[in-house]
Amino acid sequence: MKNTYPGFFVIIEGIDGSGKSTLANNLYLALKKQGKDCLLTFEPTKGQWGAILRQSFFSEQRLAPEQELNLFMKDREEHIEKVIVPALKQGRIVICDRYFYSTAAYQGARGLDPIRIIETCKEASIEPDLCIFLEIEPQEAVKRIRHGRKEDVNNFEELDYLTKVAHIYDQIKDECVVLDAQNSIENLTQQAIRILLERLKEKVRSSSS
Ligand code: ADP
Ligand code: TYD
Repeated sequence: MKNTYPGFFVIIEGIDGSGKSTLANNLYLALKKQGKDCLLTFEPTKGQWGAILRQSFFSEQRLAPEQELNLFMKDREEHIEKVIVPALKQGRIVICDRYFYSTAAYQGARGLDPIRIIETCKEASIEPDLCIFLEIEPQEAVKRIRHGRKEDVNNFEELDYLTKVAHIYDQIKDECVVLDAQNSIENLTQQAIRILLERLKEKVRSSSS
């Protein structure tokens, strides 16, 4: 479903270590500084389904792909109903770190059909007004994860798997604005703000005409 609420919905996508959380946070702070009413959120959430998923990231035995897909979908449904839609109704800018392209890429990398996942998600959930995709080589992303956290990568961050995920993102990224994640954090924040404000203006213009 298209977002017909007064608020603006932007999502940040990319493989683990691409810099999504950093950019989402910077974007949030920069917009707040400009006096914009925004909400920063992420998936998987900390709700009941997200908690089960997070536990599974470090478990010996990974959930079956369909089971994982089902949990991410339930988590998103709850997120939309309790967090995203109420904020959009209030006219806020909602910045979400990961959304349904993550499901297509990550569960797609486990053998499920990514295009079908996107189609289903577009019917079942609110489509974003803007998707920013941070592009990075998987080797570079894994280096960042190891360096940044001083700990090993988990089930979802292993290089072979992330390479498959990156390959699927490559097939679906046309629906997003692609930014080179190797740019500096400041540069990426500036680009993201510029693109977001342009899209926001377009949305206001088209909804008032
Ligand atoms: P993600 O949310 O995509 O997993 P993070 O935002 O947590 O990624 O960033 C992963 C690591 O890379 C962190 O240590 C972060 O400080 C670093 N980082 C983020 N963006 C950049 C960037 N543009 N250039 C260099 N390092 C970055
Ligand atoms: P996240 O907490 O965003 O990890 P990070 O901050 O390290 O990027 O997401 C945790 C993992 O969940 C991540 O490896 C990607 C995965 N994921 C899916 O497999 N499917 C999904 O639909 C979503 C939203 C996330």
